[in-house]
Parts: sequence; C-alpha cells; structure tokens
Amino acid sequence: VATCIKIRDVKRYVDRRIAVQGWVHHMREDGKKLLFIELRDGTGFLQCVLSDLLCQTYEALTLHREATVLLKGTLTADERAKGSFPGIELRVDFWQLIGPSPSEIENILTHESNPDILLNNRHLVIRGSRTSTILKLRSIITQCFREHFFDRGYVEVFPPTIVQTQCEGGSTLFQLDYFGEPAYLTQSSQMYLETAIASVGDCFCILPSYRAEKSSTRRHLAEFHHIEAECPFINFEDLLLKIEDLISDVIKRVMEKASDWVLSMNPNIRVPKRPFRRMTYEDAIRYCQENNIYKDEATKMHFELGDDIPELPERKMTDQINEPIFLIRFPVSLKSFYMKKCEDNPRLTESVDLLLPGVGEIVGGSMRIHNLDELLEAYRREKMDPSPYYWFTDQRKYGSVPHGGYGLGLERFCCYLLGLYHVRDVCLYPRYKDRCKP
Ligand code: 4AD
Ligand code: MG
Repeated sequence: VATCIKIRDVKRYVDRRIAVQGWVHHMREDGKKLLFIELRDGTGFLQCVLSDLLCQTYEALTLHREATVLLKGTLTADERAKGSFPGIELRVDFWQLIGPSPSEIENILTHESNPDILLNNRHLVIRGSRTSTILKLRSIITQCFREHFFDRGYVEVFPPTIVQTQCEGGSTLFQLDYFGEPAYLTQSSQMYLETAIASVGDCFCILPSYRAEKSSTRRHLAEFHHIEAECPFINFEDLLLKIEDLISDVIKRVMEKASDWVLSMNPNIRVPKRPFRRMTYEDAIRYCQENNIYKDEATKMHFELGDDIPELPERKMTDQINEPIFLIRFPVSLKSFYMKKCEDNPRLTESVDLLLPGVGEIVGGSMRIHNLDELLEAYRREKMDPSPYYWFTDQRKYGSVPHGGYGLGLERFCCYLLGLYHVRDVCLYPRYKDRCKP
C-alpha cells in the first residue's frame, strides 16, 4: 500500500512509493509513449509521468485539464522535473480517474478573455497558480493581523453585521427588510467595539463591512473585510503609534512567514521606516496647490481649504511623496459625526487617514467624542435621529472614557503589500457595483 500524501510534503518521500490526489493543472504528451501531468492539490504542484500502457487507455486518451485523478508511483529525483519542488517527479505505476473534465474546459478561458468573462468564471480562474498564491497570502496576512493583536493582549470580538444605525454616512447604506423592520448591512463595527472596551478592554474584529459605493474604482468594493480595533484610556498620539506599530509589525510578520512569495510578487516591498511622516489636512491642501495636483485636472482648478481630497489626487500626492503618510486633523465638515474635536481648534477633528504608496488611504481612525452633551450636539448637527443610537449614547453616560480606534481595509492592505493594482484581485469573489456573481 502507498501512503497518500500532500504535494507540499514530497521532499520527505523521495525514493518511496506514494499516492497523491489532485487536479490536472497542465498536461503534455511526448509521442504516444509518455504523458506528463502537472498535478495540483492546493498545497503545490508536482510533475507526474505516465508511460507506455498507462497513457494508452481510453481514460488517458480522453483526459483533459482540471480532471481529478489518483496517482500512485515512486517519487524520483530528476533534475528535469518542474513544479513546486523542481527536481522531484512522480513515476506513475497506477492511476485512476476520480472526476472527468470535458474538453470544453480548453475554450472557456483564453488569453483573449475579457475581464467580464474572467469574473463570470472566477470559480475557474481561482484555480490558476497566481490567484491561488494571492488567496494563500491573504490567509497568511490575516493570520498575521490576528497574531499582532493577540500578542498585544487584544480580545477578538464578533459584532453583528446586520444593524439599525449608520456609522459612515447614509449615502452608502445597504438597506434590507429585517422581519418587517428596516435594517442595514454594517458599514463599520466601530460603534460596537466602542461598547466592548467596557467589557474586555482593548479589542479588535475582522469582519465584512458593506458600502453601496456607486462608482467602481480600483480600491472600492461593496463588501470588504474590515480590520478594526478600539482602545480605552488613550490619546491621539497613542492612537497614531498604535497604527504605526500595526503596519510595521504585520509587514514584518508576513515577511518572516512568506518573504519568497511576497517578493516574487512585489520585489520592492520593505518594512516602512518609523516614525511615519505626519501631515495635517491643511498641509495636504497646500502640498497639492504647490505641486500641480488639481481639484479638476481639466480646468486646473486648485484645491481650497474645506475641500475633500478625492482618491486620485490623494494617490498622486502619496505616490510623489512615496512613503507612508499620516494625514491628520481633518475639518469637522469632512468627517463622521462621532469624531472628537481638537482641543486647540473646534473646527478640526482628532482624526487620521494612513496613506500608503500605490493605494492611498488604507486606514481611517480617530479619537471619539466621549462627552455626552457633545455627542448629542453632533446628532443635532448631522440631523440624525438619536433613538437608534441609545446604546452608543449610553457609553457616554455610564463611565465614559477617552478612547479611539481605527479601521483598516484588508483588501487594500493586500494590494499595497503584494503590489497589485485592483482590490478585486485579492477577493475570492469580489462584490462591487454591477457584480454580485458568482
Ligand atoms: O475610513 P473608513 O470609512 O472608516 C471607518 O469605517 C471607521 N468607522 C473605522 C474605525 O474607526 N473603526 O473605513 C476604514 C477603511 C478605509 O481606510 C479603507 O481601507 C477601508 O476601510 N474601506 C474600504 N475598502 C474597500 N472598499 C470600500 N468601499 C471601503 N471603504 C472603506
Ligand atoms: Mg476613510
């Protein structure tokens, strides 16, 4: 009997007879006497050789890519073999078809397939080696975020994603019917984390957030994974240091686990230098005015104080500066209702966006209003009905405390680290405007 192994372990079994199961990733015939199968099992790729009668059966003659097979044989060192472990191939002496794949598989995806065809067939595209590497790296990156938080004593909590409040403005809410009552898909778990600090202290969550973003850009999704953290008894300076620590430490951890893969995708990535550059919103407006970054490229209209800096100019500035930027102290008018005002200027907030080259905004965070009257005033200013927020308001009633936190978009972070252009490339099945399948 042959032990059934995973391809990642083949090195340990050289010169032994083993069994492997997987998908036919590629195949190539050499005359009628040899059939080379590159087998994929999710853990790696292995070159397998079928010879003589084994490749002349009906099943061998009608075999196509993506069929599943069981192969038995001897693992042999051969320097011509390619795959995850160059130098090792399987000389097959017995094989069996598990699930056939019809010949049409060859015509579904070609080099000419347009993005829509690729996205409709995402369930097949993810079988490709590049996408599979990206998905594995995303898993490692997520693990590193968790390890970072656990290492620093945070507790992971699990807020609901069906809610009755907005956190980041009404225009991007997905509404749904919840047993006859209106409800929304959450835009952020922040407000629930704020309640959890009184129970478990420093806490974090990794959950989907939803935004009905009407425009599709290369960094906006309708469903994204949000890594959010909240800490009691901190000030704005502490908050910035925590975000800096998070980014540097997670990149370091990912490089320790998977530098080969990361560098093969993004040769220039390094753990960024600390401290990160800090720039106030006002400085950013001035920077744009002085460096030919316009509010409107066509008319060369300049930014002015009070303007929101949208995605494109923001990224242009970040790419020119080419290092992480803490953009801080945004005007009240541009930010969410819950943000604490600066003590030296009530028109500004203790807020931060972390901008990283290639992507732009990756993190958004702030200190939160912890004074009850100030929060009630913020509801009025934003014309919000405070009643659904009673539990959020209660935090300011029963033992309020200065606190702050942030949210990081996992897909954007993956794009930064792996040097990818589009957030949809790091999603198993991306969701954005006009795309809800598969
Ligand atoms: O800046 P945002 O909207 O901040 C919040 O939601 C806060 N309540 C978070 C908090 O303080 N706990 O979103 C935070 C981050 C953004 O910087 C971005 O990386 C990501 O979430 N993000 C998106 N990613 C992909 N697609 C979208 N539509 C995103 N919207 C936000
Ligand atoms: Mg933001």
